[in-house]
Amino acid sequence: MKKFVLAAVAAVVMSTAAYADTIKVGVVGPFSGPFALQGKNFKAGIDAYMALHGDKVGENTVEVIYRDLPAADPAQSKALAQELVVKEKVQYLAGFYFTPDAMAVTPILKQANTPLVIMNAATSAIVTKSPLVVRTSFTTWQTSTPIAKVAHDAGVSKVISVVSDYGPGVDAENAFKAAFEKEGGQVVEAIRMPLSTNDFSPIMQRIKDSGAQGVFAFLPSGPTTLGFVKAYNENGLKAAGIKFFAPGDLTQESDLPALGEAALGIQTTFHYAVSHDSPENKAFVEAASKAIGNKAELSFPAVGAYDGMNVIYKMIEATGGKQDAAKAVEAVKGLSWISPRGPVSIDPESRHITQNIYLREVTKADDGTYYNKEVQTFEKQGDPGLAAAK
Ligand code: PHB
Repeated sequence: MKKFVLAAVAAVVMSTAAYADTIKVGVVGPFSGPFALQGKNFKAGIDAYMALHGDKVGENTVEVIYRDLPAADPAQSKALAQELVVKEKVQYLAGFYFTPDAMAVTPILKQANTPLVIMNAATSAIVTKSPLVVRTSFTTWQTSTPIAKVAHDAGVSKVISVVSDYGPGVDAENAFKAAFEKEGGQVVEAIRMPLSTNDFSPIMQRIKDSGAQGVFAFLPSGPTTLGFVKAYNENGLKAAGIKFFAPGDLTQESDLPALGEAALGIQTTFHYAVSHDSPENKAFVEAASKAIGNKAELSFPAVGAYDGMNVIYKMIEATGGKQDAAKAVEAVKGLSWISPRGPVSIDPESRHITQNIYLREVTKADDGTYYNKEVQTFEKQGDPGLAAAK
């Protein structure tokens, strides 16, 4: 009897302790539907972080709660975030693949006393919508600016720009144009496609007809980018010598097996390549491959999520596990660390990540697989888009 009572008391103590010390992180992303692989990469990055660093920060246990948002849907995004805050009592919101979904959540952060750690959404202006936003991914301004110099150095002076018609696409168009004109180049035509576009043949015809020597393109990574690069080949643009310039969203590693020769030689600029040669990336790729179950499915949202967890762990440490969003965000301003992508820091003014941007070329490895090979580094790039975002 005594033994039984003791066991019961111990169980009660343990469960209250576990409740009091559990810090919940609510992660919203596309875990089903056409973009499910991108969400799967969020989870792989988070799992890898927790496998390598444990699920404890001091006395506190970190618990991640996932909510599925298959496509860009701001109303649903806000509803999921509210549910996570009110019902699940999460202390942190994180994830968010598409810009409109991240934007929709910024108005609730202050009242919810919750930081938002963006693991992907890449429109510059998001960080200006609330002082409680921190971003560990990239912006399309950041990734599209250096490719303009690459285009110019390749002897190209006339480019046609083709982007998805929403935040990160418009930012990419503006970033490329500003940087390319600075180099003396000219954007002869700028096409904005609806996000839902999946037949790219008419666009390819317009690119051919434009007389441009090269095309600059941005679409959000997923079936969209795979279809676009395929169409570039199948419609004979590559064969016609029209050069392809883009940020790395267009050649994400998980698309390369399906693209094969179609992607070979394509140069892109981006913050992360799975092939990045460093001890930090080796450990990350090993843990994230194990989490995702197939290394060939690994892509950039995993590193945004991994570093996002690093920021959240620092926030939990700084607040001792107490819910204080302003203090949490303050604690990571200026934070610097070695990410699997290379050295990074959180810019104290913008709360966006400063990082290297790499020029990469799709290359065939000895074993016949394709990868993004880093060939040049643009060091310590901040976000050039913030001036434009104000
Ligand atoms: C975005 O919606 O901000 C976004 C999504 C996918 C990308 C880049 C940006 O590859």
